[in-house]
Amino acid sequence: MELQVNTKDRSYPIIIERGVLSRAGFYVTTGKVFLISDDGVPEVWRSTLQRQFPDAPMHVIPQGEGSKCFEVFQEVLADMLEHHLSRKDTVIALGGGVVGDLSGFCAASYMRGIRYINIPTTMLSMVDSSIGGKTAIDFHGIKNCVGAFWQPSCVIIDPEVLSTLSPRLLHEGMAESIKMGLTHDPKLFELFEQDDYADHIDEIIVRSLLVKQGVVERDERESGERKLLNFGHTYGHAYESYYDLNTYLHGECVAMGMMTVVKNPELHSRLEQVLKRLELPLSCDCDKERICQLVQSDKKADHGMVTIVQVDEAGKGYLEEWDEAAIRKGIGL
Ligand SMILES: NC(=O)c1ccc[n+]([C@@H]2O[C@H](COP(=O)([O-])OP(=O)(O)OC[C@H]3O[C@@H](n4cnc5c(N)ncnc54)[C@H](O)[C@@H]3O)[C@@H](O)[C@H]2O)c1
Ligand SMILES: [Zn+2]
Repeated sequence: MELQVNTKDRSYPIIIERGVLSRAGFYVTTGKVFLISDDGVPEVWRSTLQRQFPDAPMHVIPQGEGSKCFEVFQEVLADMLEHHLSRKDTVIALGGGVVGDLSGFCAASYMRGIRYINIPTTMLSMVDSSIGGKTAIDFHGIKNCVGAFWQPSCVIIDPEVLSTLSPRLLHEGMAESIKMGLTHDPKLFELFEQDDYADHIDEIIVRSLLVKQGVVERDERESGERKLLNFGHTYGHAYESYYDLNTYLHGECVAMGMMTVVKNPELHSRLEQVLKRLELPLSCDCDKERICQLVQSDKKADHGMVTIVQVDEAGKGYLEEWDEAAIRKGIGL
């Protein structure tokens, strides 16, 4: 199956097909190729890609968020220079959001921008980070604060690669799909209410991508509708900063963030059932005062008012402005 994303700067296809990784060579017809992956992506997927491009160098970075930094960014660029990559050549990223964000930023910066193909290998990167054109590294302890909007020329999704992902990582990525179902697509949310949701993984991926594609096309630079995709993220980011990196994963914080915000009793209980089935956390035992401070210090806060994405009915996300009192009430203070 193929979707087409049309942005102002570029149109590009997203290919979603089991086994497509072993045919990736088909999607690069000219120029040299430079492969980037990380050492947590199982060897089986790295070598499948490498077989498609036997002459291409593969730069393998250490797995984890720590690689989204200037040092690794420089190392990759230096390697690209050493291999004489030109403006006509292509960077291919094989990995989760870390590899995608870093490689996208390398492609955006090298020679003022070269072609970039993204092959996401985690659930989160398939349904969320691989499209939308946001690329970045972290700097001075601030996530994603140095980066660029740079659209890929193609996104290749092979759901087969999820077979090696741990259930925990699979489920945290699904939290982003649940978010998209709640804000935009009730049928997507309903898929998670079925006992056999795991048999619908390809449909979950496609439906999530359709939501993201529509939003990105209508609001590329996050001036309006794209904000709806921050559902669960305002409190979610606060939980993420409160705990150290090893306690909760991003999607787990988003799950708790959605539970904090949704107030409609019926939807709240449906969401609770879905998250429980995926063994995602519903709440945590944290210092609520500190969470409120963190919510208000969020980079998107304006004079103490915070834009919150709210959902009362599946598929219908909307924006609300919350003052300090509402933020406190939201978390039960
Ligand atoms: N650009 C965007 O729009 C956007 C959106 C959301 C998140 N992000 C970024 O994405 C990053 C998180 O991405 P992530 O959740 O994919 O984490 P990740 O890239 O760190 O991957 C998680 C782990 O899974 C391993 N892995 C990858 N594919 C695998 C596979 N098929 N089988 C087994 N293990 C595999 C990786 O080596 C890594 O250890 C964050 O840096 C976040 O800022 C970006
Ligand atoms: Zn997210």
